[in-house]
Amino acid sequence: MSEDPAMEAGVQEVRELLHLSEDMRLGIDVLDEQHEELIMQINHLHRLCECGSACQEEILKHFDKFMIEADKHALVEDALMRILDFPDSEHHMAEHVDFFRLCQKLQVKLESGECVRGDMFYMKNAFIRHVLDDDMLLAPFLIKARRSKREYRKAFAEILVKH
Ligand SMILES: [Fe+2]
Ligand SMILES: [Fe+2]
Repeated sequence: MSEDPAMEAGVQEVRELLHLSEDMRLGIDVLDEQHEELIMQINHLHRLCECGSACQEEILKHFDKFMIEADKHALVEDALMRILDFPDSEHHMAEHVDFFRLCQKLQVKLESGECVRGDMFYMKNAFIRHVLDDDMLLAPFLIKARRSKREYRKAFAEILVKH
């Protein structure tokens, strides 16, 4: 048993699955759907991690998939902030970069077969905190500045083609 109570709490917490609670909903379908998908993937990762080294290959494969989806999501938010001139976009984009750094560290540990329970806990919390703090600040701005879905899609398509 860990002597670090915070880490121990993390190990307990990591066993719990996430769900997109009402207070995490932004009211913007495209972003809520992506958050929901990411949560499903995080939960799947947790289940795989519980089965331990026997699932190592599947964990790594799924983690790659998760990173691709998370990257796509960040790309969409970054694009919206740029298109609509969100005033705090630099800070928000820097938070996305920090989250990816956290995920990359986790990926390195997964590849080396280290225990990642504590790291999974921090990653999960970083995700929730980002949605509740940063995305929640962005949402009213996006809703106010909402343009037609067609315009958004066209802008996304242009950005996705470039990446
Ligand atoms: Fe975000
Ligand atoms: Fe987000």
